[in-house]
Amino acid sequence: EVVDVTGLHLIPGAIDTHVHFREPGYTHKEDWETGTKAAAMGGVTTVFEMPNTNPPTRSVTELRQKQDCAKKASVDFGIYGLLAEDNIDELQGLIDGGVNAFKCFMGNTFGNLPSPSTGAMLEGFEIVAPSGLRISLHAETASIMAWRQARLDAAGRHAPLDHIAARPEVVAIEAVARAAILSEWTGARVHVLHISSAGELRPLAEAKARGVDITGETCPCYLFLTTEDYDRLGSVIRVNPPVREPKDAKAIWEALQTGVVDMIATDHAPHTPEEKHNDIIWKADCGFPGVETQMPLMLTEVAAGRMSLEHYVKISSANPARSFGMYPMKGRIAVGAHADIAAVDMAREEVIRAENLHSLGKITPFEGRKTVGAPVHTLVRGRFVQRDRMLCPGMVGHGRQVTDIQSMPTPEPKNVDQTLATLLTEGVT
Ligand code: DOR
Ligand code: ZN
Ligand code: ZN
Repeated sequence: EVVDVTGLHLIPGAIDTHVHFREPGYTHKEDWETGTKAAAMGGVTTVFEMPNTNPPTRSVTELRQKQDCAKKASVDFGIYGLLAEDNIDELQGLIDGGVNAFKCFMGNTFGNLPSPSTGAMLEGFEIVAPSGLRISLHAETASIMAWRQARLDAAGRHAPLDHIAARPEVVAIEAVARAAILSEWTGARVHVLHISSAGELRPLAEAKARGVDITGETCPCYLFLTTEDYDRLGSVIRVNPPVREPKDAKAIWEALQTGVVDMIATDHAPHTPEEKHNDIIWKADCGFPGVETQMPLMLTEVAAGRMSLEHYVKISSANPARSFGMYPMKGRIAVGAHADIAAVDMAREEVIRAENLHSLGKITPFEGRKTVGAPVHTLVRGRFVQRDRMLCPGMVGHGRQVTDIQSMPTPEPKNVDQTLATLLTEGVT
């Protein structure tokens, strides 16, 4: 059996270090099976999953529970541990227990996890620093947001753009700057999640310039959606942080080209349509699925000549692998048992339809958007998980936690002859 890949580009599978797969606790929104199938369809071969599940991944007990849920994964994965006010004493246990990174919710969002005080962050960073694990930050300052939101509520204001008024840009700027100082002081590696505004770029770039080990990500919604889409999309567009003005999207795009922003992730945050539709925008749940649509959306930019394919590989795979300690095991083209590959057809035209998504979250602000370029095959460690835009049967459970791949000998995949060697001999552009 041979796959003809003439005319396709083979790129390292995307590494999406920011997904919410909701299990345990919110499996009506998503679970590990549906989430990782969506990833496989999207050319994503590794995901890092966030701890705001129920229960949250706050100690080694919940880590084991999550690892159990993740046995259904079709693609490889990392697991985030929570760094919060009330679990500082659990952090060492999470490190020893095998988390791949930490998540610190500096601002409040889905799951209502209390954001840690600066004191708790300082102590948490001190504990995590020697492990070398990165701490990813939802960089919004809770106290500013709470104040603004209370003022808006008191005034009875619920207009769509008041969602942004409640989270003025300085909310993120202050949080990035503070996190960078704590990182510098403690030596903990940090990562700024979902950069949404131009203002965050300065404290990020300045911290990098003075040698702080800090990386940053943005997501497709901050590049391709703006305040101009609020009327059209209503509460569907609600995401934390909010999408901002066209000038912000432009600045973030440039920063992604120059390397100030290191990578593209998705903040894949599925909810049901009922949870997303609300006349009062901030009563709707925040976020939407993204792991399946990132690659087609970004390849559309590549196809239009606005980014090189080489650069896309850097921001979607190599940089996240480096930042989260997986390079060179992941983040580059490898053969045989370590082949994590997306075969992309740069001419393939598709239309994004929520009903076609493999995520349980059948709603997307990108509904109806035309894309050019798509991953037509996905291989995880030498095995096809997606082929010809169809999921491959029997791959549930193929996914492994990246820590385990590093420490265990990977068995030779059964269909290794169908994998990279075959793909390569069939002719690759
Ligand atoms: O929009 C968001 N959704 N932002 C977050 O920070 C959390 C996420 C979620 O879990 O729904
Ligand atoms: Zn967040
Ligand atoms: Zn998130």
